[in-house]
Amino acid sequence: MSIDYVAEIKRLKEKLPVTVVGHFYQRDEVFNMADITGDSLELARKCKADENPWVVFCGVGFMGQSVKVVAPHKRVLMPKVACCAMARMIDGRFFDESVEFMVSNGIAKEDILPITYINSDVSVKSKVGEMGGLVCTSSNAFKIIEKGLESGKKILFVPDRCLGQNFANSMGLKSCIIGDGSDPKESDIICYDGFCSVHQLFTLDDIEFYREKYPDILIAVHPECDPAIVKASDFSGSTSQLIKYVSELDENQKVAVGTEYNLVNRMRPNGNTFVLSSTKPECPTMNETTLEDVYLALKSIEDNKPINEILVDEHTSKWANIALERMLDIK
Ligand code: 13P
Ligand code: SF4
Repeated sequence: MSIDYVAEIKRLKEKLPVTVVGHFYQRDEVFNMADITGDSLELARKCKADENPWVVFCGVGFMGQSVKVVAPHKRVLMPKVACCAMARMIDGRFFDESVEFMVSNGIAKEDILPITYINSDVSVKSKVGEMGGLVCTSSNAFKIIEKGLESGKKILFVPDRCLGQNFANSMGLKSCIIGDGSDPKESDIICYDGFCSVHQLFTLDDIEFYREKYPDILIAVHPECDPAIVKASDFSGSTSQLIKYVSELDENQKVAVGTEYNLVNRMRPNGNTFVLSSTKPECPTMNETTLEDVYLALKSIEDNKPINEILVDEHTSKWANIALERMLDIK
């Protein structure tokens, strides 16, 4: 007999002291099961404030890790331990090499302030915390970088080169990418060469196509898009900020949105919101989680045999927590 996953998930949520959490990029059927939704910053804040001892986190690995780090007493399970492709681009060794690159170019280690985008492994956050640095998300990067600049240090921004460059541009700062041949001493923000392959799909041709087809259309994109795309757009913001921007438009206003497909598809179903790409911009790892996976994670709690639990060792957790809390303290 086949299992009615929706009914079973509802039953288990009622029975167990558990909160199901879902990022906006999750498949609709999974997203609809979530008690807490939000962008990366909201998810970290809301999960920390939530009282249930169990969390079933539908998203990618760094998000589940962040909850475990800011709320270590919680048991965090991920229906699929899917890893964000950008987060995989940097580990502790590459982080050390990036610091080394700056040092070998005449910048003393004490004069470097590392900032890591939340889309990074907990081991990278930990190294950033140990060096006095902090975490940012796409919704608070401006404030975090502004705060970081108060130290008078050079900012090492990892792993997303696009986010680093986009915020440098919006703040009138000079940025470079490690490996692009420039002298890091000449820049305020030195970016690691990581990127999101999903957000690289949006092109200037896509923008031109929509602007030609609908001359009054607005273009709204996530700041993980290439700087040329952000510059050519009318608005850039985190997933929550994009939702807010689109929801506040007049209902007849056309808008093309450059971010993950599941989210854009869910926005304003009145035919005036378009996906800014001829290719379906799906995040493969966000899409891995299915209703069956959510059910199995919840069932494992009921059966007292938890699966896919996120565990972080004490040292890593301590410093990653410091880096995350430095961010959460900035309102
Ligand atoms: P948000 O923090 O804007 O939700 O972004 C997370 C993400 O992975 C975007 O690709
Ligand atoms: Fe990572 Fe990109 Fe997927 Fe966001 S959309 S989770 S940055 S791979």
